[in-house]
Amino acid sequence: MRASTPLSDSSRVPNRSHELSADELSIYRQLDPAKIPQHVAIIMDGNGRWAGKRALKRFLGHQKGAESVQFVVETASRINLPWLTLYAFSLENNLRRPKSEVSFLMKLLKSYLVGNVKRMNDNNVRMAYIGRTHDLPQEVQDTMQWASESTAKNTGTTLTLALNYGARSEIVDAVRSLLTDLTTEAHTRGCSVDDLLGAGALESLDESSIARALYTAHMPDPDLVIRTSGEQRISNFLLWQIAYSEIFVTDRLWPDFNGLHLLEAINAYQHRERRFGGLGESFTDEDLNNLEPAEEVAAEIKDHLIPKSDAKAESKSEAKPDAVLTRR
Ligand code: FPP
Repeated sequence: MRASTPLSDSSRVPNRSHELSADELSIYRQLDPAKIPQHVAIIMDGNGRWAGKRALKRFLGHQKGAESVQFVVETASRINLPWLTLYAFSLENNLRRPKSEVSFLMKLLKSYLVGNVKRMNDNNVRMAYIGRTHDLPQEVQDTMQWASESTAKNTGTTLTLALNYGARSEIVDAVRSLLTDLTTEAHTRGCSVDDLLGAGALESLDESSIARALYTAHMPDPDLVIRTSGEQRISNFLLWQIAYSEIFVTDRLWPDFNGLHLLEAINAYQHRERRFGGLGESFTDEDLNNLEPAEEVAAEIKDHLIPKSDAKAESKSEAKPDAVLTRR
């Protein structure tokens, strides 16, 4: 399932930062309002460990985790974060967790939606989903649809729950839909797929064609990915979309994570320099003018670092360095 079309435009939404708690407000005041990320995606992890540390059953960790979801969503809405995506249930969770845990998570999701739609509306939050949601139990799908329809008119934060989601299967689904489009087009035009490929269909396939075929077609890519519970991995979450996202890992377990911690993560994000494969703002043209051939620099390095006796031996077998540029 795809998330629905974008409405989120923070400039049209009234500022509700006065609704933040005193602690949140003190972090919020340190933020640059012009650099609030457009999209934050969170890998919520550590519910089981949170419960284990208290000698509680795992399901109580999930239940407490659902409360954290609502705290974080409401803080996000108060700072006009346009897009918030939460990894709530992966394809792998569905396949590899005991049936009893999966069935508890489904019940929890249903009761979370039923219990929070009013609060979503009070906070101007619109609900959407990504993932192979058609494989979830029908009554869960019905409640999901009801929640998204009941919040469809809201114009603030779009909360997207990734449910029965896996990034690799999302890419598989995207490729399938591109191939289906191609065969449909061939059929409509009364020609073969080969004819279309010969007429340039292959060359016209580019990164934006794939992005448009993903579940997230209508969202900006995440600026910031947060993972709780200290694990340093991505776990098959939004693999295509996070190519240039900043990653913030916290040891805090998800049930202990709330709006204040979201703001702390955004604060850390605002101190990062994003380069998107370029050189970043701190690198000036003046620096570029000071680039010089590697050969000279290599000679300088040799003078300073290699003892004279070694340098003699080396000069006999010396190969010419590649003509790359390096910084002075
Ligand atoms: C990981 O904890 C978390 C999940 C399996 C998914 C997240 C689920 C929730 C936050 C609860 C419900 C969500 C909604 C939207 C109602 P884990 O069990 O992997 O923790 P562990 O690694 O410590 O065992």
